[in-house]
Amino acid sequence: MSTPLPPPPLPPGSTIGILGGGQLGRMSALAAARLGYRCHIYAPEADSPGMQVAAARTVAPYEDAGALARFAAAVNVVTFEFENVPAATLDALAPLVPCRPGVAALRIGQDRLAEKAFFESSGIPVGPWRAVHSLAELEAGIAALGLPAVLKTTRLGYDGRGQAVLRRPEDAAAAFARLAPHPLILEAFIPFAKEVSAIAARGVDGTVVTFDAVENRHAHHILDLSIAPAQVPPAVAAQARAQVAALATALDLVGVLALEMFLLPDGRLLANEMAPRPHNSGHWTMDACRIGQFEMHVRAVVGLPLPQLGREHDAVMRNLVGPDSYAAWPRLAAEPGVALHLYGKVQGTEGARPGRKLGHATRLLPLGRLAEEADAAALAPL
Ligand SMILES: Nc1ncnc2c1ncn2[C@@H]1O[C@H](COP(=O)(O)OP(=O)(O)OP(=O)(O)O)[C@@H](O)[C@H]1O
Ligand SMILES: [Mg+2]
Repeated sequence: MSTPLPPPPLPPGSTIGILGGGQLGRMSALAAARLGYRCHIYAPEADSPGMQVAAARTVAPYEDAGALARFAAAVNVVTFEFENVPAATLDALAPLVPCRPGVAALRIGQDRLAEKAFFESSGIPVGPWRAVHSLAELEAGIAALGLPAVLKTTRLGYDGRGQAVLRRPEDAAAAFARLAPHPLILEAFIPFAKEVSAIAARGVDGTVVTFDAVENRHAHHILDLSIAPAQVPPAVAAQARAQVAALATALDLVGVLALEMFLLPDGRLLANEMAPRPHNSGHWTMDACRIGQFEMHVRAVVGLPLPQLGREHDAVMRNLVGPDSYAAWPRLAAEPGVALHLYGKVQGTEGARPGRKLGHATRLLPLGRLAEEADAAALAPL
């Protein structure tokens, strides 16, 4: 018996439908355009960052059955750039057009309980956790896991929203009242040495490639810096890549997958969460690798080959979070070693909401340069 051949790639000129209008869709559409593909962005908001650079756009709710059917008829394949697209939206599209990744990865990635259980069933280590549906379950969870602990909503969290750190038993009732009635998860507080993440891309033929693991630092619960490569022992970096690759295969994913992990002081890695899409901690790859995460995602989705390539530079990426760090863009634009990316969210002189990601800047360094620096943050843009 011969192995079935993978489907041929969609030819350039085909249209990729992207659910979600944010910067991840924008940068995917730009990467797709370079390879000759058109992107059709579907999102509820008009003039979103993605729509500004798309060949076609649909402004409609994710629940609009008629708009979804017209979208499916207008595109050759569908992907998503936002993991809180309702699973029912992909369920409606899947009989009409290939969806990559499929709804299974979306469903798991949307729900922290499903995600933790999936990590465990895939042999990916995680910290201790408990499902919480009542104050009694929360108190039992605290008794089992100890304090401090982190209580999180299972769905719709981002940038640290929908979370509470519990330090004393008295914190439980107020945190539960604030986050309920949503289903919750209680996690043991992990005293990590570093936060790291790794990104894999998996093709229609099952090929998996990975990018170097990076260290992520947060400011005010928002990603501030990604340091590429993470300054960790080689075995840890290799394990981070192996874990995200294993997860991509276990999910039968087609596209890009990011895995956020905690590195313990003893060198163990514990998975925190995943995102079945390009990820903020992979933005450095756009400039430091010949094929970055967005092009890898596009390649996977249209069925093009995924070459395993090395990093060509060390890199430090800084998010430009509005309006303060965004104001530095003219200076960053003038720095020869810095690659600047702005997302089109600020029109004219109009200000931007605090905490909104408006762009990012990546400082490119010679390979090996980070290892010579006591603290990589000293090399960050800004
Ligand atoms: N169990 C934990 N122990 C220690 N710190 C934690 C724990 N869970 C979360 N954190 C801290 O809070 C940050 C945000 O948590 P998490 O990634 O789960 O939420 P998020 O809202 O999806 O954030 P983001 O959108 O930035 O990924 C983590 O990067 C980490 O710094
Ligand atoms: Mg996170």
